Amino acid sequence: MVNEILELKTRYNALILAHNYTRPEIQDIADFVGDSLELSRKAAECHAPVIVFCGVRFMAETAKLLSPDSIVLHPNPKAGCPMAEMASPEEIRAYRAEHPDTMVVAYVNTTAATKTEVDICCTSGNAENLVASLPSDRRLLFLPDANLGANIAAKLGRKIELWPGCCPTHNKILPEHITEARQRHPDAIVLVHPECLPAVVALADHALSTGGMLRFVHESPQKEFIIGTEGGILHRMRKENPDKVFYPLEPAVLCPNMKRITLEDVLNSLRDMSPTVELTEEVLRRARDPIDKMLEVH
Ligand code: 13P
Ligand code: SF4
Repeated sequence: MVNEILELKTRYNALILAHNYTRPEIQDIADFVGDSLELSRKAAECHAPVIVFCGVRFMAETAKLLSPDSIVLHPNPKAGCPMAEMASPEEIRAYRAEHPDTMVVAYVNTTAATKTEVDICCTSGNAENLVASLPSDRRLLFLPDANLGANIAAKLGRKIELWPGCCPTHNKILPEHITEARQRHPDAIVLVHPECLPAVVALADHALSTGGMLRFVHESPQKEFIIGTEGGILHRMRKENPDKVFYPLEPAVLCPNMKRITLEDVLNSLRDMSPTVELTEEVLRRARDPIDKMLEVH
């Protein structure tokens, strides 16, 4: 199957992009594996005729927004992010009608249709810098992830209105899971994702995007790490740092949607050139702006 995929990939000059949470065998055939921000940047600069996007739907939509002339394949349309469905364009229009002066900051984990109604997007990799760059006298609404919004507000000491959304996977991580992991591995550094509850982030050493975690463990002189995020990231961590030890939390943290894309799906999508990500002209035009603004911030 892998050989067939690689053959088709060469034939169509396709680029395979995969998120850090996808299955190990998907990461191993990808041209580039990264976090949401890194994958967006890759999609914007790649100019590939065909992009096979292995990740959840909103990420594939972002790739299409940034590379509208490419055929963007999303090998399993059932791979969606439940958090991205927690803020609809209609709800945001209604909020804006009541709060016309509020600036709406959207986590990139939103649908392309929702992005048409927001002022600016961010990922967990640039959320802090991005919010810090916004005018301090503007009222801000952060959506859809209340945890990420609260964690940024605490870090920056800034008041932010929070939308009542969350990641069902990261919300399952509880403070006692961190405490127990520390008891088992007292010398380990604890890294968690900023989608975790603020009480969990408060117990960790650092809250970082998946790309941020990978850079951190690579550069750190420490040898042991407790990893408070989706378990798919352990594949790259272990492969790229064979001299270090990585402990998942117990119970294990899994995003079922990220695991939906299989090698068979990738093979079928390249063979059939389907399913493609299609967005209307209006969505392509209006949702691009908040994403472009996000990419301007480092
Ligand atoms: P990253 O941008 O950190 O990879 O996070 C994406 C995501 O969906 C986390 O749940
Ligand atoms: Fe969405 Fe959470 Fe899965 Fe990330 S881990 S894709 S936020 S459901």
